[in-house]
Amino acid sequence: MFQGIKKILMAHDSSLCSWYAFEAAADLAKKYGAELYVVHVIDTTVIPDIPHKDLLIKPLKERAEKLEKELKEKSKELGVEVKYIVKEGKPVDKILESAEELDVDLVVLGSRGLGTSGYLLGSVSTKVVVACKRSVFIARRKDVPAASKL
Ligand SMILES: Nc1ncnc2c1ncn2[C@@H]1O[C@H](COP(=O)(O)OP(=O)(O)O)[C@@H](O)[C@H]1O
Ligand SMILES: [Mg+2]
Repeated sequence: MFQGIKKILMAHDSSLCSWYAFEAAADLAKKYGAELYVVHVIDTTVIPDIPHKDLLIKPLKERAEKLEKELKEKSKELGVEVKYIVKEGKPVDKILESAEELDVDLVVLGSRGLGTSGYLLGSVSTKVVVACKRSVFIARRKDVPAASKL
């Protein structure tokens, strides 16, 4: 039996499409009176195994910190409380892991992220839809063409 939505996990990669999905997640959280978590995964799979690779991870960590500040401002504006989580690793795996750890009722993602492929759905959102045991909501702006960074 469907028991409502008490916990939402929104996955945010700092793209404009993620911001649209965040607005959708915040709206759902308010309407359902649900707790809202946001996970940002620092994608370490793109970092080659070289000496001083910490120099390559640094800007990604800075982006994660900037996102936290921006989320604080946006959540204040939207009137929701957000718990922010940063993980390092493979985005799909870490999003799925967070959904299980937090035992959420809903996972919210943007249809696209920072990538530039020509598909309507990005690879992370596609894989989460297929592999996640939880309900998944993909937020898609009607005006977004497939290859857009939105
Ligand atoms: N590193 C990440 N951390 C958290 N969420 C992510 C990450 N990468 C992608 N996502 C989620 O998946 C959505 C779609 O992104 P993705 O599948 O990577 O598309 P693209 O191929 O356009 O980058 C994003 O809007 C976001 O919700
Ligand atoms: Mg991506």
